[in-house]
Amino acid sequence: MHRYPTPFARGEDDPARPLPSEPQAETLKWWQRAVIYEIAPISFQDSNGDGKGDLPGLIQRIDHLTWLGVDAVWLTPVYTSPMLDFGYDITDFCAIDPLFGTLENFDQFVRLLHARGIRLILDFVANHTSDSHSWFAESRSSRSNPKRDWYVWADPAPDGGPPNNWLSRFGGSAWEWETKTRQYYYHAFLREQPDLNWRNPEVRLAMADVLRFWMRRGVDGFRVDASAVLAEDELLRDDPPDPDADEKTPPPQRLKRIFTDDRRESMAYLEEMRKVIDEFDDRVLLGEVQGKTDRIGHFYGEERPRFHLPLNFALLDTPWDALSLQANIDAYLNAIPENAWPDWVIGAHDKHRIASKIGQSQARVLAMLVLTLKGTPFFFAGDEIGMEQVAIPPECIRDPFEKLVGGYGLNRDPERVPMRWNEGRNGGFTSGDPWLPMGHDVAERNVEKLKVDPRSLLWLYRRLISLRRSEPTLAAGDYLPLRSRHGLLVYKRVCAGNEILIALNTGHEPRKLESPSAGTVLLSTYVDRDGEIVDQSTVLRPDEGVILKLRT
Ligand code: GLC
Repeated sequence: MHRYPTPFARGEDDPARPLPSEPQAETLKWWQRAVIYEIAPISFQDSNGDGKGDLPGLIQRIDHLTWLGVDAVWLTPVYTSPMLDFGYDITDFCAIDPLFGTLENFDQFVRLLHARGIRLILDFVANHTSDSHSWFAESRSSRSNPKRDWYVWADPAPDGGPPNNWLSRFGGSAWEWETKTRQYYYHAFLREQPDLNWRNPEVRLAMADVLRFWMRRGVDGFRVDASAVLAEDELLRDDPPDPDADEKTPPPQRLKRIFTDDRRESMAYLEEMRKVIDEFDDRVLLGEVQGKTDRIGHFYGEERPRFHLPLNFALLDTPWDALSLQANIDAYLNAIPENAWPDWVIGAHDKHRIASKIGQSQARVLAMLVLTLKGTPFFFAGDEIGMEQVAIPPECIRDPFEKLVGGYGLNRDPERVPMRWNEGRNGGFTSGDPWLPMGHDVAERNVEKLKVDPRSLLWLYRRLISLRRSEPTLAAGDYLPLRSRHGLLVYKRVCAGNEILIALNTGHEPRKLESPSAGTVLLSTYVDRDGEIVDQSTVLRPDEGVILKLRT
């Protein structure tokens, strides 16, 4: 078949395509080079025996971060909070909850991280506050209070019911009646999490000051929580039913969120936020974006920048086989603007642990995938030791999502259980009673145990992170897919004449790999054949991934 050069032709099939010459790792921004590690401090290390992790605990464990080699840490909220939703219900955006420690602990944490070259990203919960926030206390106190309009209030429907059919993500109507002022307020999440009214410029100014407060303390960036839901339709139009929903769909997901999510005004507010970030040098704005891959592109903003990195969950949401993976990777890369920097998330505090879905052998393949794709990799504390979903007995359930919308497999506690450091009592996490169960496999799966085995998943993470740093092609090179067949996902990273081939066997049988040229193994997921020279044709063992430096 004759091959016509096309503007989209990629890889070795297209001789006309010049090899990229200069995108060297050193010209990238830190957040493009970085490997980012999410920590939920409540589950990382407890220092005072209350069963909940805290900042002094985190400080004790900084060595783990340096040993692993991560470049940045993203912390879930540590602000003052009644903790009804894992700290995402905040009463003061500029204070540390005593559960976690003090502002001094926080400052010390920033200093220690920075001294080791690690950046810090905080969660920025822009959409809502706790109902115990003083702003809300004022807002609900009377219709004429100056802060009334800081939240979203609406009159009842003619029958006295909620203003429209909008649903809270956590179940039931998104509207809550206030007898005192005879209006409803809107909450996208818990009724104890009233939505701020982003249309109000005073709210936007106050929230911009929150960002500045933390950036002045040295914070390197933010992950904007629930960023797509900042503004709702002004006409309060009802959402339509989702035609794909059935009785297995959790009730809050049976309407299509046309009038509450992803509105144009929300995008304008993200642009304003980005301007605040850009007042400071070298900071990054990440965003939790709702919805499907095909919507992710516009969260970058082209002429008017929004996020540096809208977080991409494509690898978590795809079926686990080579064809689905190559398709999902491609769909995502097609959905983002041409010059946008990609990112890949394989674990997070709202997502089921992927090791439970794909198994421990494939968890190694996934580690190799996420750390060799082009784009910023993100993983969640515990992924590096292959933590799985932990069974939560009914009496231990903490997640409000599960309490309110139970029975649909939505519980987020199983992925939020504490980190295990050793095989001692409570995995070395706490001397008290852990806030969630530790799980039954602490003795086999903990940091200390995996650290003494150089072939463990933990070591594989460390080796991959260090390889990404020592081979600039892995951080900066172009991504060139090859055709994936027979369960092998295959692609190259190419930069300035260097070519690295990554081949991942997503199956449990040996598979033959036909590589474009012979090469040297930089790393195998089995961690046992570094430096081996392989021919164009070689065999990958079951569940084996390899990184080959091609002879060019
Ligand atoms: C985001 C957080 C989630 C939280 C919700 C409400 O989705 O990631 O954990 O429950 O916002 O703040």
